[in-house]
Amino acid sequence: MTDILDGHDPLAIERAAGLLRQGDLVVFPTETVYGLGADAADALAVARIFELKKRPRFDPLIVHIGEKAWLRALALRIPAAAEELIERFWPGPLTIILEKREAIPDIVTAGLPTVAIRMPSHPVALEMIRAFGSPVAAPSANPFGYVSPTRASHVTEMFKGKVPLILDGGAAAFGIESTIVSIREGKVVAHRHGAVSIEELERVVGPINEKPAGGTTEAPGELPYHYAPHTRLVIVDSAEEITIGNSGFLSFGQPESPPKSRHLRVLSQRSDLREAAAHFFSHLIELDRANVEVIYAERLPETGLGRAMMDRLKKASRRYAATHH
Ligand code: TXA
Ligand code: MG
Repeated sequence: MTDILDGHDPLAIERAAGLLRQGDLVVFPTETVYGLGADAADALAVARIFELKKRPRFDPLIVHIGEKAWLRALALRIPAAAEELIERFWPGPLTIILEKREAIPDIVTAGLPTVAIRMPSHPVALEMIRAFGSPVAAPSANPFGYVSPTRASHVTEMFKGKVPLILDGGAAAFGIESTIVSIREGKVVAHRHGAVSIEELERVVGPINEKPAGGTTEAPGELPYHYAPHTRLVIVDSAEEITIGNSGFLSFGQPESPPKSRHLRVLSQRSDLREAAAHFFSHLIELDRANVEVIYAERLPETGLGRAMMDRLKKASRRYAATHH
């Protein structure tokens, strides 16, 4: 049985905190995407996340905190650049990788000497974590490799009957995962493009380096294919390139003429990248469920949040190329 409760109800929050305390999993909303949470200090509870998601054990989780002050108990050191980022972006969609303290179970960090931490800004997430009173480990609430859920209804379809509670907090405001960074020799390194754009980060800490591909501690979010719908996905420069009619078209703005595709989803009528990101995964999930042969996705400008979305589109298109020949 899965209960779906309004996350703004204090009783629902109490229920969630109680479940976490007894080692159960809870789906909760964040400003980026929905998360599948467990007590970060409870290795057994965290193991259930991996089972439910069919996620490989070498893929570490993000630890979510309810107060900035909780950071000291998790991280060994907080470099100056991290302090600046925290000051500007927390609570919010930025995850920072720091050297971990012993107390964090290895299953959370997949044995890495580092831990990824963020303080979400969604009021329901914050309320839940604070009511629980301790850090919550949570990946996005989707089967491994699939598109992240941005509404409670997406999760219901994916995990119905498999989690005791889904807190409904409405449609995620950002709609795309948090940006992940680490700090190396005082410099900020981008691991995953997400809801905070590189431009925004650079305004605070100056030039950011890209994590070089093929490093030793490769995290699966950085695998060449990930975040993918089941349907084949092809990136096109415009609707003109569409050849298959039994297709879906994920368009950035309103197309000038009707595209050949049977299904059309417009990310933002006014071609606004922030609005597009908020619709990105939900439109992809809808097109994936529309029984089409192929999803065409219009190329997005690779600035601001466009970069995060293009990253995910490229990965989705590569997955198909890698598994079907
Ligand atoms: O917006 C988000 O970040 C959402 C919400 C629920 O907070 N969470 C999320 O979690 O996207 P997940 O597990 O789907 O993606 C976390 C990414 C993975 O690619 C993982 O490999 C990486 O973070 N990661 C976690 N810990 C890491 C570490 N210590 N070093 C490098 N990468 C790490
Ligand atoms: Mg994920």
